Amino acid sequence: MKNEILITTAHLVKKFPIGGHFFTALNDVNLTIRAGEFTGLVGPSGSGKTTLLNIIGALDNPTEGVAVVMGQDTKTLNHKQAARLRSECLGFIFQTYNLLPVYTVFENVEFPLLLLGIASSDRKKSVMKALEWVGLTDKVSSRPSQLSGGECQRVSIARAMVKRPKLVLADEPTANLDAANSHNVLKMMLQLNREMGTTFIFASHDEKVIGYLRRKIGLTDGKVVEDKIISTQNHEESETPC
Ligand SMILES: Nc1ncnc2c1ncn2[C@@H]1O[C@H](COP(=O)(O)OP(=O)(O)OP(=O)(O)O)[C@@H](O)[C@H]1O
Ligand SMILES: [Mg+2]
Repeated sequence: MKNEILITTAHLVKKFPIGGHFFTALNDVNLTIRAGEFTGLVGPSGSGKTTLLNIIGALDNPTEGVAVVMGQDTKTLNHKQAARLRSECLGFIFQTYNLLPVYTVFENVEFPLLLLGIASSDRKKSVMKALEWVGLTDKVSSRPSQLSGGECQRVSIARAMVKRPKLVLADEPTANLDAANSHNVLKMMLQLNREMGTTFIFASHDEKVIGYLRRKIGLTDGKVVEDKIISTQNHEESETPC
């Protein structure tokens, strides 16, 4: 349902232990994100973007406060329940790709569908469609070590999108892509957002990504310092590749 609240964070704090003291990576983050948003966490390196995405994606727990994702307080989920939430509802594009090195491109993208028990013929169709989205149908049999950084990034994008999840968490998805590929994947994501209502949360400082956002959440030193809706007019203008 559009406008349904997908994510709430309340007084979210994340502290990491380093050398006998604690480093505060997130400091009292309070956010509400609704279904159908195309939102970005924007801020300098070290501002807490990945840390926040990891908590929203139930990959890490907050030190204080709560993150409620699709009605579930992530802190209360055990390992299996968190894995189930990720498998059924989330697509995660990792900053570091996290591809399985012994698997081919096809097998890497197929993996989330295997976890969901999708039949072989449907898996094949979905994998090929996702690889078409990112322009990698000619690399189905390659392994990650045989790909460029940008190609690995595109495999990671295809893997996150293949099951058409309700929510996509995209951590610097264009960091290794050239301008043409960046615009291609961003347009594909925007199309899924419009046609299927897929919610996207980006972490990025790439101006190309920022140009597509409808809401920009600025983070500095683990704090939300800006939360701005971007007008559709700006958005349409920014859709044209530079
Ligand atoms: N496991 C950890 N242990 C200690 N400190 C950490 C850990 N993970 C992150 N940090 C620190 O928390 C801060 C926020 O890190 P985070 O990865 O969220 O930043 P970011 O905004 O994603 O940066 P970038 O744009 O470089 O990806 C950084 O200062 C980082 O050093
Ligand atoms: Mg990061």
